[in-house]
Amino acid sequence: MSDTGVRIRAGRLDEIEAVLEFWLLAAENTDRHDSAEGVRRLMERDPEALMVAEIDGRLVGTLIAGWDGWRAHLYRLAVHPGHRRRGVARALIDAAEARFARFGAVRSDAMVLDANVLAHQAWTAAGYGRQTDCSRWVRSLRS
Ligand SMILES: CC(C)(COP(=O)(O)OP(=O)(O)OC[C@H]1O[C@@H](n2cnc3c(N)ncnc32)[C@H](O)[C@@H]1OP(=O)(O)O)[C@@H](O)C(=O)NCCC(=O)NCCS
Repeated sequence: MSDTGVRIRAGRLDEIEAVLEFWLLAAENTDRHDSAEGVRRLMERDPEALMVAEIDGRLVGTLIAGWDGWRAHLYRLAVHPGHRRRGVARALIDAAEARFARFGAVRSDAMVLDANVLAHQAWTAAGYGRQTDCSRWVRSLRS
């Protein structure tokens, strides 16, 4: 546990619904594809990927630290509105980077909306910078 009282641990299967509710309250532009099945699939594939921050046993933050064996990607950085500016995001990012380092990852990246200035400040403070020489190309795999 950090000196701010934040404890970072892996998310549990029995709190999937709580995490989904938490994202509706705290996360950026919650994805329309969110589902309990999707979170369960993530946990079963990689039980440590969903990182949860708690203070006094209460869920106050999340970060998905995805390691696919090749690259390290961060998603769903979210902190409860009542617990912001107390280092929770920073503690989650530090924990994710420590996890990536154990795998030998050389770089970590985050998906951040261009308009989310708040997030830009948090990521900048953690040492991240916007990549300007490439952008995400996407195609839906659903008909
Ligand atoms: C962005 C977010 C995760 C930051 O969480 P947080 O726990 O408040 O961040 P921290 O307390 O760890 O802040 C770390 C640093 O980020 C910067 N920062 C964070 N919030 C900031 C704000 N509102 N204004 C200016 N700088 C800010 C500061 O440099 C801060 O350090 P400091 O408090 O010592 O000045 C939180 O505001 C949030 O959940 N926002 C909604 C969801 C979201 O946008 N997530 C990002 C998706 S990419």
